[in-house]
Amino acid sequence: MGASSLNRFRVAAALLLAGVGAGCQGANDDSASIVGDSIASVAARRVAEARFRLPNDSSIPSGMLGASVRRGRALLDATRDSLREHVGNDLRCTSCHLDGGRRPDAIPFVGVYARFPQYRARNDAVNVLADRVNDCFERSMNGTPIAAEGRDMKDIVAYMAFLSQGYAVGGVVEGQGLRSMPPLAPDMARGARVFASTCVACHGADGQGTATAPALWGERSYNIGAGMARLRTAASFIRYNMPYGNPTLTDQQAFDVAAYVNSHPRPDFPGKEHDWPRGGAPPDVPYRTSPGRNTEPPRQ
Ligand code: HEC
Ligand code: HEC
Repeated sequence: MGASSLNRFRVAAALLLAGVGAGCQGANDDSASIVGDSIASVAARRVAEARFRLPNDSSIPSGMLGASVRRGRALLDATRDSLREHVGNDLRCTSCHLDGGRRPDAIPFVGVYARFPQYRARNDAVNVLADRVNDCFERSMNGTPIAAEGRDMKDIVAYMAFLSQGYAVGGVVEGQGLRSMPPLAPDMARGARVFASTCVACHGADGQGTATAPALWGERSYNIGAGMARLRTAASFIRYNMPYGNPTLTDQQAFDVAAYVNSHPRPDFPGKEHDWPRGGAPPDVPYRTSPGRNTEPPRQ
C-alpha cells in the first residue's frame, strides 16, 4: 500500500459498465467514492495516510467501558444471533468487515470513529457514525435500524472508537474502505467460470453458502440497496479478500465474478429510488433513482 492508495476513493468516472447499472449518472463522481464524499476523502488529496495499526486487546480498558468495547465486538461477530429482530439475512457485520473490522482493504473499522460526521450524497445529509451503522443494518443486513441511543449502538460505537484511538479526525488511514479498481468491463460467462472454480468450495454451487461461508445472493444475502450490490464495490472486496485468506484473482477476474454474483436476485430495498436525491448516483448503482425531486440549492 503506497502513495497510489491516496487515490483509493477516486474511482474513474469512466467506469461505466453497460448493462450492469441502470442508475443515473452524475457528472461529479465525488459521490461515487466508496465511503462517501467524506471529510476524509477531501483530506486525502493533501494529507498523508496514517499507518494501519491494531491496538492490543490488553489495552482494552477495564471496567464498564472495556465491557462495552468487548460486547460491541461480540455484536459485530454474532449479529444475527444477538440482534435477531434487526437482521433479515444470514450475514454478520464481520462477513464483510473481516476479522472484526481489523483487516485492511476489507472496510476496516480502524479509524472509522474519526471519519464521521460526514456528508453523504446517497441520503443528502450529514451522517454520524450511528447513522452509518444503521445503513448497514438496513441494507447489508437486510434488516431494521437499532436504537441510536440504545446499549447495542453504544457498544458497537465503543468498539469502533477503541479501534480508532490515536487517529486524527478527518484523517486518512492506510487500508481504509476498499481499494480503488481500474475501470474494467466484466464478462458474465468468464465470471461464472471463476465462480465455479474458485468460490463454490465455500459459498456453494448455488451461492447459498455452506457451513464455511455465507450466501452470496438470494433471500439470505445483502439487499439491492447495499454497497456490496454495486459492481466495483464487490469487485474490490473480492479482489483483495477472496478466496478468503488467499486472494489470488486478477482485477479482471474480480470484475467478472462480481458481476456474476450480483446478476442473481436478492432482497429488494423499498425506497431505494430516493437514494442520491440530488442526482449523481454512481454508474454502478443497480437501480434507478429519481433525482431532481429536491430542487432547492444545496445547503451551505
Ligand atoms: C476458503 C473459503 C472461501 C472461498 C474459497 C471464498 N470465500 Fe468468500 N467468504 C468466505 C468467508 C468465511 C466469508 C465470511 C467471513 C466471516 O464471516 O468472517 C466470506 C465472505 C464473502 C463475501 C461477503 C459476505 C457475503 O456472503 O456476501 C463475498 C461477497 C464473498 N465472500 C465472495 C466470494 C467470491 C466471489 C469468491 C470466489 C472468488 C469467494 N468469496 C471465495 C470464505 C470463502
Ligand atoms: C454485505 C457486506 C456488509 C455487511 C454484512 C456489513 N457491511 Fe458495513 N459496509 C459495507 C460496505 C461495502 C461499506 C462501504 C461502502 C459503502 O459505503 O457502501 C460499508 C461501510 C460501513 C461503515 C463505514 C466504514 C467507513 O470506513 O467509513 C460502517 C461503520 C459499517 N459499514 C458498519 C457495519 C455494521 C455495524 C454492520 C453490521 C450491522 C455492517 N457494516 C455490515 C458492507 C457490509
